[in-house]
Amino acid sequence: MAPAVHLTLIALFITGAAAYTNHTVGGNAGWLFDPNTNTSSANYASWAANQTFDLGDYLIFRTNTNQTVVLTYNETTFRSCSIDNSSDSDTLIYDKGNVEFGQPLTVEVPLTLEGANYFFSSASDGIQCENGLAFGINVSHGVGLPPSLNQPPPPAYVEPPSNADGSLTPPMTIQPSGAGLRVDDNVRRAVYYALTFFAFFQV
Ligand SMILES: *[C@@H]1O[C@H](CO)[C@@H](O)[C@H](O)[C@H]1NC(C)=O
Ligand SMILES: *[C@@H]1O[C@H](CO)[C@@H](O)[C@H](O)[C@H]1NC(C)=O
Ligand SMILES: *[C@@H]1O[C@H](CO)[C@@H](O)[C@H](O)[C@H]1NC(C)=O
Ligand SMILES: *[C@@H]1O[C@H](CO)[C@@H](O)[C@H](O)[C@H]1NC(C)=O
Ligand SMILES: *[C@@H]1O[C@H](CO)[C@@H](O)[C@H](O)[C@H]1NC(C)=O
Ligand SMILES: *[C@@H]1O[C@H](CO)[C@@H](O)[C@H](O)[C@H]1NC(C)=O
Ligand SMILES: *[C@@H]1O[C@H](CO)[C@@H](O)[C@H](O)[C@H]1NC(C)=O
Repeated sequence: MAPAVHLTLIALFITGAAAYTNHTVGGNAGWLFDPNTNTSSANYASWAANQTFDLGDYLIFRTNTNQTVVLTYNETTFRSCSIDNSSDSDTLIYDKGNVEFGQPLTVEVPLTLEGANYFFSSASDGIQCENGLAFGINVSHGVGLPPSLNQPPPPAYVEPPSNADGSLTPPMTIQPSGAGLRVDDNVRRAVYYALTFFAFFQV
């Protein structure tokens, strides 16, 4: 093989292996806030200034449920340190549905849009964000999104049709036996006992 081809293959191999990077936000300091001193555990602007971010990379937030992770493409929302007036179309809140304080939490955020991406914690009425738990990055194209992240957005939400009585339950369709629903042994046993009982007392 000619040396030039060799070099190209090696270059392809190297860029392929290093195509996407996982960035642990704040490094070992994580994404944390000390309410006793009003300080964040790292200077996130300097942390971010020291690396490049490409489409398909992930930001890994090592935190707990006392902080939140908000991604917004809207600078006004970022500057306000609040999600109060934010729109679903440009702001995403990653909380994994945990409601208890102080629970360990790791949040993985894929970078899927080029340009300005802003991150902040909306917890404590913006106090965390105002005191350093916030930063912006500029996401470059790199090699583009991997197929796993390059999905069309989900279809718009459509209100399910409601019944005349106002309930939202769709009409029940009974499946023919053998298809769909599988009756488990316990259910079968319960039905058998019930039938025996009714037969015995002739009700
Ligand atoms: C980066 O993080 C994502 C999301 O947690 C994970 O699926 C992927 O395997 C990680 N990649 C590396 C190289 O650690
Ligand atoms: C933290 O900042 C908030 C808002 O600026 C203030 O009300 C609070 O007293 C501060 N707490 C401490 C410990 O400095
Ligand atoms: C990034 O941080 C590393 C280690 O702290 C340092 O060696 C390097 O010079 C920094 N690079 C920039 C561009 O600040
Ligand atoms: C950004 O968000 C604010 C509310 O925080 C909203 O008023 C504004 O229209 C948004 N900007 C864009 C470009 O969508
Ligand atoms: C949200 O909008 C209301 C009404 O325009 C305004 O009073 C309030 O200050 C805004 N909140 C933030 C955090 O921008
Ligand atoms: C989380 O917040 C709660 C309520 O403010 C506090 O009692 C607890 O010490 C905090 N835990 C951590 C790990 O910061
Ligand atoms: C982001 O990076 C692109 C090229 O990588 C550059 O053209 C653009 O000016 C940058 N934007 C900001 C806000 O730094």
